[in-house]
Amino acid sequence: MPTDVAIAPRLEITGLDAGYFGQPVVRDLNLQVGAGEVVALLGANGAGKTTTLETIAGLYAPIAGTIAMDGSEIGGRATHKLAREGVSLVPESRALFNGLTVREHLQLARTGGNDLPTDAVLEMLPELEKCLARKAGVLSGGEQQMLAVGRALVGRPHLLLVDEMSLGLAPIIVERLLPILRRVATEMGTGVLFVEQHVPLALQVADKAYVLSHGRLVLEGMAQRLRGESELLRASYLGDEAAEKITALPVGDRRNGDTEALPPKGYEEPSDRGAPDVGDGLGSETDRGTQHT
Ligand SMILES: Nc1ncnc2c1ncn2[C@@H]1O[C@H](COP(=O)(O)OP(=O)(O)OP(=O)(O)O)[C@@H](O)[C@H]1O
Ligand SMILES: [Mg+2]
Repeated sequence: MPTDVAIAPRLEITGLDAGYFGQPVVRDLNLQVGAGEVVALLGANGAGKTTTLETIAGLYAPIAGTIAMDGSEIGGRATHKLAREGVSLVPESRALFNGLTVREHLQLARTGGNDLPTDAVLEMLPELEKCLARKAGVLSGGEQQMLAVGRALVGRPHLLLVDEMSLGLAPIIVERLLPILRRVATEMGTGVLFVEQHVPLALQVADKAYVLSHGRLVLEGMAQRLRGESELLRASYLGDEAAEKITALPVGDRRNGDTEALPPKGYEEPSDRGAPDVGDGLGSETDRGTQHT
């Protein structure tokens, strides 16, 4: 990839407040995605991940702050215009038409510009080939998700926003789908921002990650570094206070060799779906991410 493309921030969010009816649920968000970069947006249920993606995609106008793509302000621009300009959102709902076939979905996604031919989409997502004549409504969940991603790729997006691709899917399908994001970024120079609840899988694929808690950024860092920081990630999911407690622990207590690190005082295992699945075995990287206070 040419160096100038790699350096340009494809997406630059500065001081973003986003929310509904003038009430922010995401506050003062600063986030960057480079061309060819894959970035994970993590956080518990209700943290503001979908709100962030949908505001970038133009479904809602920002309440404050700026959203720039390739140096141009796009905040508040209409979704259909942004789609033409290369912003592609794969929503959590997948938003497929049950009565249309896979082939028809891919045809409808054509922009009339330098589109990705169907063959190229199928080369990335070969599982779709056998389904071309099938209606979306009869596809399996995994096939539907592949179609949602494939459709988003047709216009060769500059910026690909993917919301919880893995929702309701078996981990094996997630393991199959996530690397496609990496391929898209590498081969098309697309900036990819994806929301994912399977934290270890997300950190395997991502270059860097941001963690939102109650609408605020509480942690950001290179994915490789965060992989070894399961305690810090867990604390970040719980919010600023818990994260502060854990960062206050002596390093020896938090990183106890190969044995389990001590939980922070007051830490309780979260029980909802938003709890990060930060299982062991993702390497022994111990460098810290940037802790926001
Ligand atoms: N259309 C809406 N109108 C008003 N409030 C909303 C709307 N959509 C979401 N919210 C609120 O905004 C907050 C953030 O929601 P959001 O969907 O962005 O969280 P999330 O991080 O995507 O959560 P999840 O992991 O459950 O998908 C929540 O408190 C939610 O209730
Ligand atoms: Mg969401």
